[in-house]
Order: sequence, then C-alpha cells, then structure tokens
Amino acid sequence: MDAKIIIAIDGYAACGKSTTAKMVAQHLHYNYIDSGAMYRAVTLFFIQQKINYQQEIPQIEEILSQINIHFGYNAALQKSETFLNEVNVENEIRKMYVSEQVSPISAIPAIRKAMVTQQQKLGQAKGIVMDGRDIGTHVFPEAELKIFMTADMHIRALRRQKELEERKEIGTLEQIIKNLEERDYQDTHRKENPLKQAQDAYLLDNTQLSFEEQCQFILQLAEEKIRQKQQLSYIQN
Ligand code: CDP
Repeated sequence: MDAKIIIAIDGYAACGKSTTAKMVAQHLHYNYIDSGAMYRAVTLFFIQQKINYQQEIPQIEEILSQINIHFGYNAALQKSETFLNEVNVENEIRKMYVSEQVSPISAIPAIRKAMVTQQQKLGQAKGIVMDGRDIGTHVFPEAELKIFMTADMHIRALRRQKELEERKEIGTLEQIIKNLEERDYQDTHRKENPLKQAQDAYLLDNTQLSFEEQCQFILQLAEEKIRQKQQLSYIQN
C-alpha cells in the first residue's frame, strides 16, 4: 500500500517556501497547496471592493460568502493558478500593493476560520504539501512532516526582487525589506494562530543552501516518514 502523508511547510515571508514546496510535491506526485495565495486572494477582493478593514466589519460573514477561491491547473505552464470568483488572479495577487495589505487582513479571525476550513478540506485526501504560516501548528497539527523555513533577510529580499522583476514589477530593495519585516512582525504577533515554529518541526535555514540542497533535505525526511507510515500500516493490518 502506498502510504501518503501531509507535509506542512511554514516560515517567514519570501524564504522560498512555495518554490520548494512545489518541487517536493512534484517529486512525490503530491498536490501542492499555496495557503498564502488564498489570503492574498481575499486581500485582493477587499481592495477591489474598497472594504475598510481598519475598523470592525459587522457584515464579515456576508462578505466572505461572496468570495470563492479555487486553484486550477494550467497545463501549458505546468502550474496551479489561483482563481477569485472564477477570475484568474495568479499574477495580480503577487503584486506589491497586495503584499502591503495582506497581513492585517489575514489577521481577521473570521477570515482565518474560513480559510482554515477550506484548507483542511483540501488536505482530507492526504498526499499534500501545503505552505503557509500556521499549517503545522493549526491547520494540520497532525501532519507527519513539518518544516519551518527561514533565511537571512537580505537574501530573502533579493530573491523576492528577482521574482517581482520576472513579473515586470519594480520594487526597490528597501521597499521589499520594509514589507517583509512588517509582514513577519504582524504574522508573528497576531492573536489568532500566529506564525511560530511547531515543537515537532524541523528548522530549515536555507541562507547558505542551494535550491537542490533544501529540496533534498525535505525529500529525505519525507521518504523516511512515508516508510515509517508504511511499516506502521503493515504492522496494524
Ligand atoms: O510568499 P510570501 O512568503 O511572500 O507570502 P505568502 O505565503 O504568499 O503569504 C502572504 C501572507 O498571507 C502572509 O504574510 C500572511 O500574512 C498570510 N498568511 C497567513 O496568515 N497564513 C497562512 N497560512 C499563509 C499566509
């Protein structure tokens, strides 16, 4: 029997979680789910609808009922893309103006509750790699493999600048560092499920690692966990 596990990858902003998670998922033939994309899509909706989130939002449940997020696979680009109310928003949600507002919006409890419910449903079938901020601590506390990623701030900012440039967006290094620092602060200090390393997560500082090395680090652990799970189910049956 092929035992499938859940791999949770959490960590600071722009430390390469999604690129790594995607590669690990591809290698294991697992589904990759970008939980950050969901919070970014909600943020885009808030911006488009000019919803003031600085004050309490009594109609939050009604607003949430108007938001439909799903992922669709783009066969030509061989990647999954984010849709907000049936519109492909994959590029738009990565822009700086969304990054600048995503953390306070993600801190709203009703929004987190709705996203976590969807994420848990997506993980029901196992065989998934999900990255975010609270995956190992809250969404899947039972995940068989948890990774907590970090990297030096300067390296993270340079990587993010390169990603933005590839999307033809210009961001100065100062602007990017400011955004990453602000998001890390807000994400680690919010009341509801803040970003923190789960007790049983493996710390992965990729400052000095190549992309291949960090994928290898995770894949080795994943294969070990899958083997353990197979042995366990063999004993139980
Ligand atoms: O890719 P990057 O590290 O820039 O961030 P992301 O994964 O796209 O997440 C964007 C933002 O969404 C984060 O800064 C958090 O505020 C929020 N987020 C969250 O609160 N919980 C998650 N599980 C994932 C993202």
